[in-house]
Amino acid sequence: MIDRYAVVGNPVAHSKSPQIHALFAHENGQDIEYGRLLAPLAGFRQTVERFRAEGGRGLNVTLPFKEEAYRIATLHTERARAAAAVNTMRFDAEAIFGDNTDGAGLVRDIGDNLGFAIAGRRVLLLGAGGAARGVIAPLLAEQPAELTIANRSVERARVLERHFGTLFGARVRASAYDALSTSRFDLVVNATSASLAGTLPPLPEGVFAAGSLAYDMMYGAGRTPFLEYARVQGAHLTADGLGMLIEQAAESFLVWRGVRPRTTSVLASLRAG
Ligand code: ATR
Repeated sequence: MIDRYAVVGNPVAHSKSPQIHALFAHENGQDIEYGRLLAPLAGFRQTVERFRAEGGRGLNVTLPFKEEAYRIATLHTERARAAAAVNTMRFDAEAIFGDNTDGAGLVRDIGDNLGFAIAGRRVLLLGAGGAARGVIAPLLAEQPAELTIANRSVERARVLERHFGTLFGARVRASAYDALSTSRFDLVVNATSASLAGTLPPLPEGVFAAGSLAYDMMYGAGRTPFLEYARVQGAHLTADGLGMLIEQAAESFLVWRGVRPRTTSVLASLRAG
């Protein structure tokens, strides 16, 4: 029987994951089936259990179920625990393994595809929700000079400062947006959901250092308001989250199949539409 995988979310019709995994499978000579599962908002667990009972081998989990997937998993990787969220599930007879490949995807896209070294740089992370939390440990593992987390509700950023500060030391600090006006950053990552609403986080002017990279974890048609603003503000490089999406998928493929797919041609093919 062919090994079955799927992406589960709500909504899920727009997901590019089936296309990405079909390309990975083809290029690596792996015979798998990868579909889409729409889970009712109150029926995520049942959807997962049914897929597993029918012989499914693994799932990618997308909005809004990553925290619930963490609760359902019976064994967690360290990076899933740091994120308190799961985007990759793997099933065997005994266990539901929960992993999180989002942060690895971000770091790999920035380092390998964009050629930007995070080590020693001043990094600003915008947002303190689930998307932000999921990338903090992998960003810190790259040894930036500092990681500042800015959020409208500063208390949410402080919770992350306390949590990750105990693990990684004083390089992590929380900030309000207006308190950023005297600082410059080499890498600014937008992990807020502002781009989804077509809006911009309230960033003061002048935060982009010379040679800086502005990275929006969202992707879509055209440049997001954050990337437009970053350009006007003098960011040297701008990137949307399509590369991160493909890199997190490659990492999930590795978790399931033991093979890490090459991503260059897949990125080019998805960019071309
Ligand atoms: P996700 O799981 O996608 O991170 P979330 O947990 O709802 O979703 O978090 C959304 C994040 O985007 C939060 O950091 C939120 O800021 P607040 O905690 O202050 O609400 C942030 N956010 C959403 N819209 C924003 C906007 N227009 N400007 C700045 N931050 C915004």
